[in-house]
Amino acid sequence: MAIIAPSLLAANFATLAEEVRDIEQGGADWLHLDVMDGKFVPNITFGPLVVEALRPRTSLFMDVHLMIEKPEAYVDAFVDAGADGVTVHVEACAHLHRTIQTIKARGVKAGVALNPATPAEWVRPVLADIDLVLVMTVNPGFGGQAFIPSTLKKIAALREWIREDGLDGRVAIQVDGGIAQGTARLVTEAGASVLVAGSSVFGVRDRAKAMAELRADAAL
Ligand code: DX5
Ligand code: ZN
Repeated sequence: MAIIAPSLLAANFATLAEEVRDIEQGGADWLHLDVMDGKFVPNITFGPLVVEALRPRTSLFMDVHLMIEKPEAYVDAFVDAGADGVTVHVEACAHLHRTIQTIKARGVKAGVALNPATPAEWVRPVLADIDLVLVMTVNPGFGGQAFIPSTLKKIAALREWIREDGLDGRVAIQVDGGIAQGTARLVTEAGASVLVAGSSVFGVRDRAKAMAELRADAAL
């Protein structure tokens, strides 16, 4: 079954704890937290303080997506705040392998993200060292953008390499951006199993229904 990871970015920030409780009770699997620094991406969101504040309020897996420059400098802060997984962008890491080791040394799941124009090949050398590849299906920075169909080929290539390298069940493919009914089917058919969804879950009143519809649309 697909893992549904609602993205906090689309929640009401005036009542964050209630928003998180709502999706947790509604059947979410993970909570996706988008950290932006205004440099790597043209938007600013929040830092470890928000992760720390939410940690005692939820038992969901806290999936921190760092869209920041020099992410290696902030791994400890996010893990100390309560992150269960930390994902860094390959485009932001001069020493990607070392950064992955830094994350894993803290005992949390390590993810590597690829922007839409970044080739899948960039992550292949470290596939066996990580828990998750995040294929961005929009250009990172904002919620509510349209899904980019050319990312499907990248998902399929990664799925194939994961199989070839004997990593099935060890490395998950996550997608982020424009995931809703319809695109959930396309990405899961291509090989993704972790679906980040912002506006299609938090943007509607009945979040439980929205997540159930995503699950029903997913091909696994
Ligand atoms: C985009 C973020 C996403 C975003 C997705 O930069 O990484 O997590 O919240 O939002 P939707 O699902 O609305 O495209
Ligand atoms: Zn994200």
